[in-house]
Amino acid sequence: MRKIIIAGNWKMFKTSFEAVELVNELKRTLSDVSEVDVVVCPPFTALAEVQDVLLETNIGVGAQNMYWEDSGAFTGEVSAPMIKAIGVQYVIIGHSERRQFFGETDATINKKIKAALKHQLTPIVCIGEVLAEREGGKTFDVIKTQLDGSLVNLTAAEIENIVLAYEPVWAIGTGKTASPAQAQEVHKFIREWLTKKFDAAIANKVRIQYGGSVKPENTAELMGQPDIDGALVGGASLKSDSFTAIVKNCLQVI
Ligand code: 13P
Repeated sequence: MRKIIIAGNWKMFKTSFEAVELVNELKRTLSDVSEVDVVVCPPFTALAEVQDVLLETNIGVGAQNMYWEDSGAFTGEVSAPMIKAIGVQYVIIGHSERRQFFGETDATINKKIKAALKHQLTPIVCIGEVLAEREGGKTFDVIKTQLDGSLVNLTAAEIENIVLAYEPVWAIGTGKTASPAQAQEVHKFIREWLTKKFDAAIANKVRIQYGGSVKPENTAELMGQPDIDGALVGGASLKSDSFTAIVKNCLQVI
């Protein structure tokens, strides 16, 4: 069975002081949860301090982005070895906000995934359609193009070490969650793509998170779907009570 993985994407929220406050609370509220993998992804400025607080706990830490070169004249960028040196284990790659506001493409996302894997970071790779694409009946085409492009040239061994996150863009920060059936339909499509590209055994190992207005009230039903293996949580990950409730509500379906 795939272990559920709940990750909090804090986006551009929280100073390092506020971040430490939040993870100190999470360390207390979630210390007894081992059935679910829990990850927090603070901004770069809080990464080292958060990692220090969570050292030797059951809560993992992730960055929200990285560049694909190890070092060089790339002002403002942060590399995989720099993230790895802090002790961080995960990195979100290709979030729709990076695609939308910072020009990321499937090709650049593929380079980042490769670089993350080379440095033993687990990439959380985001894909998802915008509202016009869904309404135009293009959801599966868009997902297929994103999978084909961002996961090109990955080996079977590499694909087993990534987490995928299906985040319909129209559900992000809108309060408008995809229904469990809508999400499951796309997750199933993604797993079938993995089966065709690799094989069923590999497809069955890869965890696929859902993201987009996940909250405590809709967690159990979403996680109860056969191909939904976790959540990438934005807004509700910024408060310890809601993030804790999301993690604990997963226990209902395990
Ligand atoms: P919300 O949970 O705020 O909708 O954000 C989802 C998201 O973008 C997580 O990466």
